[in-house]
Amino acid sequence: MKTLIKQLPKAELHIHIEGSLEPELMFKLAQRNHIKLPFNSVEEAKQAYQFNDLQSFLNIYYQGANVLCCEEDFYDLTWHYLQKAKEQNICHTEIFFDPQTHTNRKVPFTVIITGISEALKAGKERLGISSHLILCFLRDLSVESAFETLNNAIKHSDKIKAIGLDSAEKNNPPSKFKPVFDQARAEGFLTVAHAGEEGEADYIWQAINLLKVSRIDHGVRCIDDPQLVNYLAEKQIPLTVCPLSNVKLKVFNSLEEHNLKLLLEQGLCITINSDDPAYFGGYLNENFMAIAEALNLTENDIKKMINNSFKASFLDSAEKEKLYIQ
Ligand code: HPA
Ligand code: ZN
Repeated sequence: MKTLIKQLPKAELHIHIEGSLEPELMFKLAQRNHIKLPFNSVEEAKQAYQFNDLQSFLNIYYQGANVLCCEEDFYDLTWHYLQKAKEQNICHTEIFFDPQTHTNRKVPFTVIITGISEALKAGKERLGISSHLILCFLRDLSVESAFETLNNAIKHSDKIKAIGLDSAEKNNPPSKFKPVFDQARAEGFLTVAHAGEEGEADYIWQAINLLKVSRIDHGVRCIDDPQLVNYLAEKQIPLTVCPLSNVKLKVFNSLEEHNLKLLLEQGLCITINSDDPAYFGGYLNENFMAIAEALNLTENDIKKMINNSFKASFLDSAEKEKLYIQ
């Protein structure tokens, strides 16, 4: 099973590029930019990666992102992930980035987008990995700040495929962002949103009905609403599920208690993803291997979820047809 998982080509649809910042690179960039880190060593950083919930993770994740200052830093970060993706036989990836985390520290939007996009171009040319970029609004910040960020995105719409929504979910419902998502869609962006990770099932309904999302990121709390589960199955609205993340952030107590097999059996379009691999102890293959073992998944389950990753992607149908596995 492990060999099969490693060998099969696959797509990743839920990866925060800032969450792929390995402590080794964090230290290198901190030194390059003369930034003091709250950790004395890579080992100390890794030991600090113990979380009680989403917020306790976000505090450390935003702190780590402080080392990203110039175009080269964003390039190196993205290139690092793409090399890892190549090793894992990821042939297509749709990457989130959080511009407000950086523009709030006075890093210009063009610096961020240029560094990431140049690395993605090199990823296509040198590694054969295709990609799309998804800009996420931080939902704990204001709608005004999201509108400002959208204005920057519009100037770079050739490099950005979709708009997403991440950060602290509780008390920051999708409804708060309806006006800015309306404008984003009018500008031609597709939309996705984190919903039903820690937040209630109703946030998933809001993401579908108000933000008109193509996919739900996480979405595992849909299980609390049988009508919603039926709707997700009927409409084949994909969920980008992140098993190791869910256990690290205590959405489930253990992988064995994860509900993705149940949802798969109910006909939902479930995909497997790494979320923030540098913080959660594994990249895409490690997520597949861990959940396959914990839930006794079959070869067919794995292949189904890999084909779901192609089907749920923002590639066009001709590109998807070339990727489906038997
Ligand atoms: N949830 C919300 N925001 C995030 C996450 C997540 O899992 N990872 C990075 N930002
Ligand atoms: Zn996420």
